[in-house]
Amino acid sequence: MALYSEKVMDHFRNPRNVGVIEDADGVGEVGNAVCGDIMKIYLKIQDDVVADVKFETFGCGSAIASSSMATELIKGKPLSDALKLTNQAVTEALDGLPAHKLHCSVLAEEAIRAAVKDYYDKNGIPYDPAQFPDCGHCEGCST
Ligand code: FES
Repeated sequence: MALYSEKVMDHFRNPRNVGVIEDADGVGEVGNAVCGDIMKIYLKIQDDVVADVKFETFGCGSAIASSSMATELIKGKPLSDALKLTNQAVTEALDGLPAHKLHCSVLAEEAIRAAVKDYYDKNGIPYDPAQFPDCGHCEGCST
C-alpha cells in the first residue's frame, strides 16, 4: 500500500486556497518546535460565516495537504463549525495520514483556532477561553 493516499497527494500537488488575505478579519499562526514547520491561516468572516480562507505553510507535504483540506472543510461554514474542526476530521477527509505525520494535521486545526481567536479578540467579541485550550500537542507553541 502507498504511504500516502491519493487525496493527500492531490492536495499536496494542487493545494487549494493557498495565499494571503490582505484584509483578513483573523490571522492565526502556529508552529511545531520539533519539526520547525509553521502554518498561517487567514480568515474573512461575514455574518459569522467563513466567507474566505487562505493559508501559507512552511512545512512538509502532509502539512500542505492538511491545510489545503482544512480550508476546504471550513470555507462557507459557520465559525462555530470551523472551531469544531479536529485534526481527526482533516485526516479522515484525506483518507488517512501515516502515524508519524498525524502531528502535521494538528497544525491545521490549531492555526484555524488561533485565527478565530484573533478575530474574536480584534472585534471585542466575548468568548469562553475554554474554547481555546493550550492543546499541548506542539512543544513551544505560543497560542
Ligand atoms: Fe512538521 Fe509535517 S513534519 S508539519
